[in-house]
Amino acid sequence: RKKKLWGGRFSGSVDPLMHAYNESLSYDKRMWAQDIRGSIAYANANVATGILTAQERDQIVQGLGKVGEEWKNGTFVAAADDEDIHTANERRLKELIGPVAGKLHTGRSRNDQVATDVRLWLIDEAAASEKFLIELIKVITARARVEVDHLMPGYTHLQRAQPIRWSHLLLSHASNLISDLSRLRDLLPRISVLPLGSGPLAGNPFAGLDREAIAKELGFKTVGFNSMQSVSDRDFIVEFLFWSSLTMIHISKMAEDFIIYSTSEFGFIQLSDAYSTGSSIMPQKKNPDSLELLRGKSGRVFGQMSGLMMTLKGIPSTYNKDLQEDKEPLFDAVETIQRSLQIATGVISTMNIFPEKMRAALTPDMLATDLAEYLVRKGIPFRETHHVSGSAVRLSEEKKCLLSDLTLEELKKLNSAFEEDVEDVWKMDESVERRNAIGGTSKRAVLEQCDRIEAQLGA
Ligand code: ARG
Repeated sequence: RKKKLWGGRFSGSVDPLMHAYNESLSYDKRMWAQDIRGSIAYANANVATGILTAQERDQIVQGLGKVGEEWKNGTFVAAADDEDIHTANERRLKELIGPVAGKLHTGRSRNDQVATDVRLWLIDEAAASEKFLIELIKVITARARVEVDHLMPGYTHLQRAQPIRWSHLLLSHASNLISDLSRLRDLLPRISVLPLGSGPLAGNPFAGLDREAIAKELGFKTVGFNSMQSVSDRDFIVEFLFWSSLTMIHISKMAEDFIIYSTSEFGFIQLSDAYSTGSSIMPQKKNPDSLELLRGKSGRVFGQMSGLMMTLKGIPSTYNKDLQEDKEPLFDAVETIQRSLQIATGVISTMNIFPEKMRAALTPDMLATDLAEYLVRKGIPFRETHHVSGSAVRLSEEKKCLLSDLTLEELKKLNSAFEEDVEDVWKMDESVERRNAIGGTSKRAVLEQCDRIEAQLGA
């Protein structure tokens, strides 16, 4: 670095720290393929405007193909003053095919170019994310089918509440993820809007530029219809970051359940070695690091979303360099969500469950609601039966016996409607089977959830 900018701003030299601060090639190079696809489509469209002859177009398209090859084989050499993927590709194109390369950028700006590249990139990454999400949902649903006969305590406030099927719990998480799948699909039309042909802000000045044709060639569903908005709209990124955040929250909550259930205190599940780590000092430890990272990384993704939203607030219309700050959060969130989905899939497909321990954790007091409902079936209003059942619980506590060990005589003293058949209340399987309305934990209702979830995967 020779001179400070403010010491001689016409010297033409840039503070090396400023170059490093300003450049985005180090991370936006991952969009090399999209940048080249966009340029090819733009060259094709500029034959009709008369900017390029068919022969010049061919030269440019061929040259761009070579630049792409270099990226692909890892032979592309960045120059010291390449600023971003757009300037790097154009600089290299000129080295390869000469001055005709200088015609490519006619009427185009990096403003409509970068917005196009990011959207193209995200269309592909959203599709990859969808695939990983579907894999995860499939694994959960498959387990739920196979393990449908295992019962466990269901918890509210982390206190034993009512018996449920293990599969019912699994599917509660799959149901969250099914909403995420539908949300992801919903936002695709808003990602798939073409900015190219907007110029720096005011639109493309060359007659005959067919933006619909560009959109079609690149696979965009629609064309951005206000050039000022098109070059500055980053809402599609915010939406994707929100989607990632919410999906991570769901993964995190699921991870939290499994962390708790894998403690010795619960002992319901055990992670496979592939997704656990040991302690450097305590030999007995098997730590659920995979689940803890799933939980921890949800905070990171939310941070990327909130960070970008802060960047977007208060910038004036059209392109401002602040917008370059959209990419790192997006790239990081995409990598994090895709890895997290795959790790969650791995964890769930390989973990062991201990159905005997789950069942052993079921206690008769968890049927206090069923006891009240027994009396409801004898025609007594629920508010009354709730009270009777509560007295039964208190009596069993006083007697230090199980709720199910109270004698018929004792129960009858609390309410004369109790009869011999109260015995049936204590059957855990029957309690679960009674919850047979849509969405319940009976076997039929649970298997139906599997069907409903699977039906949405292909949609
Ligand atoms: N690297 C820039 C970005 O990511 C490209 C657009 C630059 N445009 C400009 N007018 N300086 O946003």
